[in-house]
Order: sequence, then C-alpha cells, then structure tokens
Amino acid sequence: MALGLLATGVLWSVLAPGGNAASTADSNEAVRQGRALYLQGCSTCHGLGAQGSNTGPSLIGVGSAAVDFQVSTGRMPLAAPAAQADRKAPIYSDTQIAQLAAYIDSLGGGPAKPEVNDKQISDADLAKGGELYRANCAQCHQAVAQGAPLTYGKYAPALTESTATQIIEAMRTGPESMPVFGDRQIDEKDAVAVAAYVKHLNKAKSPGGFSLGKYGPVPEGLLAMLVGIGGLLAVCLWIGARQKV
Ligand code: HEC
Ligand code: HEC
Repeated sequence: MALGLLATGVLWSVLAPGGNAASTADSNEAVRQGRALYLQGCSTCHGLGAQGSNTGPSLIGVGSAAVDFQVSTGRMPLAAPAAQADRKAPIYSDTQIAQLAAYIDSLGGGPAKPEVNDKQISDADLAKGGELYRANCAQCHQAVAQGAPLTYGKYAPALTESTATQIIEAMRTGPESMPVFGDRQIDEKDAVAVAAYVKHLNKAKSPGGFSLGKYGPVPEGLLAMLVGIGGLLAVCLWIGARQKV
C-alpha cells in the first residue's frame, strides 16, 4: 500500500502540475499574442483596453464566440462605418482568431466559442431543427435561408456560406439587429439541430429543375406568367397570322 501511495504521489507530481503549467503558459502566450494583434488591428475603433470608443462598442464581456463569429466571417476588422458589416473573406488565420478571442475572453467572460463536430451535425434531429428554424429564424432569413431585406438598409444575410460553428455563434451573440438566442431558449442540442438543418437546406437539391434562387412562389409565378402565358399568347398569334381569310 505504501508503495502504491508513493507511486501515485510521484506520478501525480510528475504529470499533473506539469500539464497545468504548460497549458496556462500556452493560454498566457495566446492572450499576449492576441493583445498584440488587437492593438494593431482593432484598438483604433474599440479602444486601447477594449473599453469602446465613439467608432466601436466595448468588447469587455462579449466572449470568444462573438470574436470568432465577427472575425471568421470577415465582418471585423470593419473597413468603414456602414449600415451593416458585410460577410467578407477573413483576413486573420484561425490561429490568430483564436489568439484575438483568448485576449478578449481574458478581459471578462461571455459566451464561449461553441465546439461542434461533424458527427454531432449528422446525428442531429433535423425535424426539430427545422421546427425551431421556422419558428425563430425564417421571418428574417427567409424560409430556406436565402436571406431577406430588413428596414433602414439592413438585411438578414443568406446563410449559405455559414459554418455550423458560425450559426451557433450568431444565435448566442446576436450580431447587430439579430436577437440573442440564449441556451434557455434554445439549448445546446437544439442549437446543433438548427445548425444541422441550415446546413441541410444548403445541400438540398431542386427536384423541379432550376431553383430560381429558392425564393418561392413569387419568381416561380412570374416565370410561369411570362414564359407560360406569354408563350401561349405567341402561339395564338402565330395561329391567327396563318389563318387564310
Ligand atoms: C473601423 C472600426 C472598427 C475596427 C477597425 C474593428 N471594429 Fe469591431 N466593431 C465596430 C463596430 C462599429 C461594431 C458594432 C457594429 C457591428 O457589429 O457591426 C463592432 C462590433 C464588433 C464585435 C461585436 C460586439 C458584440 O457586442 O457582439 C466584435 C466581437 C468586434 N467588433 C471585434 C473586433 C475585432 C477583434 C477587431 C480587430 C480584428 C475589430 N472589431 C475591428 C468597429 C470596428
Ligand atoms: C430580427 C431578424 C433576425 C432573426 C429573427 C434572426 N436573425 Fe440571424 N441575422 C440577422 C441579421 C440582421 C444578421 C446580420 C448581422 C451582421 O451582419 O452583423 C444575421 C446574421 C446571421 C448569421 C451570420 C451569417 C453569415 O454571414 O455567416 C447567422 C448564421 C444567423 N444570422 C443565423 C440565425 C439563426 C440560426 C436564427 C434563428 C435561431 C436567426 N439568425 C434569427 C437577423 C436575424
């Protein structure tokens, strides 16, 4: 027993504190790197201590989910003030985004970047996700996530390019005029189901041929009127013109 205790003690002192020290050092390093990136690329608008300025809001307490969402969708760094920040190609690498997120996270907690893997997405309950999507998101993002205009030059973007992580981050952080959907409203499993449903919509085929932007009955009706009825009229005229009087 004495040997056993000794061995456990030795193993513990060799493994456990070493591991912790290493990971704290790693995260301190990430925070330090993130702070340097922040000062260079973000502090002009968000302030030297992320306290905010008149060109950008405070980032204290927004959490790593907000930083990952804004920077991985290319919305930040904002080039110039506009009605809404557009999705662009991101200018920071994944490692740099993680460092920026670690720095902002170190200033005060907020929603953390969600971890979601392909298996969770493929195992998710699509029917439940669809139900939640139609109840909570379709009024702004359109029934099949093609996006739609809002008031004052703002718009709910199409969700065709969003990754599952970004979809959950958008729900948790509510960018600009989008409301926040916290885990009491949509829990973790349901949030994954919503993300899986949006990804499913993006992959869905169009059995009828051309999807016409998946905008639904309006463009389809317009096409039917112009091409269908227009075509029939043309045939009528052609028959009329051939008739010998
Ligand atoms: C030109 C000014 C400007 C620069 C540069 C800029 N931002 Fe922003 N940022 C804004 C404005 C304005 C908003 C609020 C409107 C919006 O969300 O689009 C914002 C919003 C944000 C938000 C969302 C805050 C919330 O409450 O959810 C995050 C996170 C953020 N910025 C991070 C960054 C990071 C990280 C950088 C540097 C890589 C950066 N920003 C660079 C102006 C800027
Ligand atoms: C009141 C309207 C509104 C509702 C409801 C809404 N959104 Fe949004 N959503 C927006 C707006 C506006 C933006 C753009 C924000 C920005 O550009 O900073 C957005 C952005 C997004 C993005 C980022 C798209 C990209 O560029 O990658 C995702 C993902 C998203 N929403 C998902 C959802 C989901 C999922 C729901 C339902 C749980 C939802 N939204 C409900 C208005 C809405």
